Amino acid sequence: MKHWLEQTIFYEIYPQSFYDSNGDGIGDIAGIIAKLDYICELGCNALWLNPCYLSPFGDAGYDVSDYCLVAPRYGTNEDLENLFKEAHMRDMHVILDLVPGHTSTEHPWFKESCKDTENEYSKRYIWTDSIWTDVAKFDGIAGSLRGLYPRYGSVAVNFFSNQPALNYGFANPTEEWQSAVDSPEALATRQAIKDIMAFWLSKGCDGFRVDMAGSLVKNDYENVETIKLWQDIRQFLDETYPQSVLISEWGEPNKSLMAGFHMDFLLHFGPSHYMDLFRCENPYFRKDGKGNAYEFMKVYMQNYTLTNKKGLICIPSGNHDMQRIGKYLDDEELKLVFAFLLSMPGAPFIYYGDEIGMNHLSIPSVEGGYDRTGARTPMQWNSEKNYGFSTAPAEKLYTSQDLSEDAPYVSEKIRDKNSLWNEIQKLCKLRKNFSALSAFGTISFVYCEPESYPLVYLRTAGDEKILIALNPSEKETECPCPYQLEEIIYTLGKSIKITDGKLYVPAQSGGFIKVNEIEN
Ligand code: NOJ
Repeated sequence: MKHWLEQTIFYEIYPQSFYDSNGDGIGDIAGIIAKLDYICELGCNALWLNPCYLSPFGDAGYDVSDYCLVAPRYGTNEDLENLFKEAHMRDMHVILDLVPGHTSTEHPWFKESCKDTENEYSKRYIWTDSIWTDVAKFDGIAGSLRGLYPRYGSVAVNFFSNQPALNYGFANPTEEWQSAVDSPEALATRQAIKDIMAFWLSKGCDGFRVDMAGSLVKNDYENVETIKLWQDIRQFLDETYPQSVLISEWGEPNKSLMAGFHMDFLLHFGPSHYMDLFRCENPYFRKDGKGNAYEFMKVYMQNYTLTNKKGLICIPSGNHDMQRIGKYLDDEELKLVFAFLLSMPGAPFIYYGDEIGMNHLSIPSVEGGYDRTGARTPMQWNSEKNYGFSTAPAEKLYTSQDLSEDAPYVSEKIRDKNSLWNEIQKLCKLRKNFSALSAFGTISFVYCEPESYPLVYLRTAGDEKILIALNPSEKETECPCPYQLEEIIYTLGKSIKITDGKLYVPAQSGGFIKVNEIEN
């Protein structure tokens, strides 16, 4: 049976900011259900929701205080189950965000573990055995909390100070208070996470995007023990919910795919050179043609070769942690970006609002967003009040919105046949019509030289060969081409040509061509 990831295009929803159905200024699950048809119309057939669980929202919900309860501001567990059903009725899948590395300090497990009397949760987090020993000096620990709780010890945090690290053990324990990875307490934490996964999978969720997936075991150089831990979780999933997927926030496919993840994101951190393409001083996809995709391609191909058939690599348009791509590139440049994203292997992810080129705003921090907040503003649906996001007074919205005169909104972009939105819709349809373009079609780069354009690669499945040629620069380009044109299936800008073993790609243009090998 084909895996559903093969023909999947994800849409990431930051629930706070997508659509507010009850007029309180914050997006909710009923709002997401109301917009499912919109997402299908665009061409996406799966959702990733950022955490929607009970939380004090010190880090926008990545500080969970009850993994099995939907935060009241988004609705109820029943609403979420309803979303799963409504999505499935439309042949869509829904993945939730799993935050296994840490909880909120408000989580009952943490409150119990802070007590100076021993209990079931005393070792659920990483505590030293003395208030004077600082846990923060050990590898993989982001900081510590001490002197705040009755317990005589310091406790590790995983990200912000309100996110104490759950205890999965240390790779090579050197201190008495450090748990081994196979200690009863580390295994109990692991089991607790499996139980949470099973809870949501049994309600109809299709898998998880896993937050900070590489962070679980401490002092774990090269992530050897963390990899083993995920292999065990993958085995559990394969046995219980074999159709479910695990997608990692890791950024190192050479590790995450070995660990059993179905797919790993390339991210704004890590060694992938993802940022060279869209978000740096000279992005490759900017028309001034000063970019460089070579390092990206090199690392990509190393990982691809190493992990081929084990899992997928995913290149997202953006996410809730990155500056919006619309800050760096205009709509014409973004059309070529999406031609790239929607023709690469792996399942693409479109971050809500990127389909209309929403901008990154400079606005005050909300819920621990800091400089990420500008990428988390409410969706711009139409020209009505609050761009149709909410009927609440503007000052009650989750964050302020883009008030500039040319701020884009969905209804206008759908109407404009030449818009980025319509180009993305076209590309999504195309991707689904050709198996060479699907997640598992193979890739090889045909032309990608240092500081050079165009970018040319071949996607293959069975006998089908599709050559993708993209020239984001304003100059006409050419490169050697060892293929023969069979049929042009997509053109962006001016038409590309193959003559006498050369490929000509006009300025700011791209094309997908069915090709054959040249017969000698
Ligand atoms: C990565 C998430 O994407 C980010 O938003 C969050 O703040 C950290 N992990 C901590 O959970």
